[in-house]
Amino acid sequence: MRIEGIHHRSIGLTEDGRYVQVIDQTRLPHEVVFERLDSLSQAASAIKEMRVRGAPLIGATAAYGIWLALRDDPSDEMLDSANELLLSTRPTAFNLQWALDRVSAKVRPLPPSLRADAAFHEAGLICEEDVAINRAIGAFGLPFIKDAWERLGRRRAVNVLTHCNAGWLATVDFGTALSPVYLAHDEGIPVHVWVDETRPRLQGALTAWELASHGVPCTVITDNAGGLLMQKGQVDLCLVGTDRTTAAGDVCNKIGTYLKALAAKDCNVPFLVALPHPTIDWTVFDGVSDIPIEDRDSDEVTNVHGLTSGGQLSSVRPFPGETNVVNPAFDITPAGLVTALVTDRGVCSATTEGLLSLFPERQGRSSPKGEPRQ
Ligand code: MRU
Repeated sequence: MRIEGIHHRSIGLTEDGRYVQVIDQTRLPHEVVFERLDSLSQAASAIKEMRVRGAPLIGATAAYGIWLALRDDPSDEMLDSANELLLSTRPTAFNLQWALDRVSAKVRPLPPSLRADAAFHEAGLICEEDVAINRAIGAFGLPFIKDAWERLGRRRAVNVLTHCNAGWLATVDFGTALSPVYLAHDEGIPVHVWVDETRPRLQGALTAWELASHGVPCTVITDNAGGLLMQKGQVDLCLVGTDRTTAAGDVCNKIGTYLKALAAKDCNVPFLVALPHPTIDWTVFDGVSDIPIEDRDSDEVTNVHGLTSGGQLSSVRPFPGETNVVNPAFDITPAGLVTALVTDRGVCSATTEGLLSLFPERQGRSSPKGEPRQ
């Protein structure tokens, strides 16, 4: 992703290589502020307060968080407490647990003096692999956009609807759901994106910002507008990300995704999910029963954050002070509503069989919390 002509990843190291550097996403799209993470507690608070966000980026940040922790204290106790703290930041995105398990498995058998370097190395690998995963998802997702363009007789741009932000900002680079969109645009296929605003935190603003920075035409819509656009034939495909996908193909993603999938089914619009393999929770089949849904602060719903007419970042409260609020951050789209999973290994149906056809090494290796559906 280019900012003022310079290519940036969403996470990297400071110039001296001694600290982690991220972009504070709570200040976007209004200002680009790079934040230095010096310690475990800073990495944990960046995830919890959503200065970094998006399942793959949360995982990468947590991996570096282990490095920062072990650099200060490479003991078993620190490894345990760092894992516990980071895991508690955001419960839904599976990449967090995946990254922590992966780094811990590498460093725990080592003598303490070697642990920090090993964690650093593993975090770097996780970042490089994320970039490769997203490029692969782009390549496997591109034919859906190309085919839509052919079906349209190349007469108008392909209209893609997306929810939340599953782009460059949610990953180390390229994004998952937006990766095929960027590829299509770069290949000269006209593509236009309907961007759900994504209340309450308005990640649609991030999506609109990064699409515009790449030159991809897009239009922001309210979260409730997609159904009408689908009924009127103005959406050719839906393309979303995922925070955790079960071994049966149920997809947990940002709240509101499920309603889009229902509308897509009713309107015969393909509903595609971009799925990096570290997001698959092979231990769970039934998403509704077994995926922990993050319950976030009521302030996110009662307050709206943005720029004042004077150009200051501020928040206002459209609701009365005593309003009751619940704020679940994610929902489950049952596998039956998902047209296809676009993974880094290829495209498959949202079924256990489909997933196992791409990940045969998982056959018989999951220890399911629930039974696969018949
Ligand atoms: O709460 P967020 O902003 O972290 O939620 C992000 C999403 O729901 C994304 O769609 C998901 O993480 C996939 S990102 C590649």
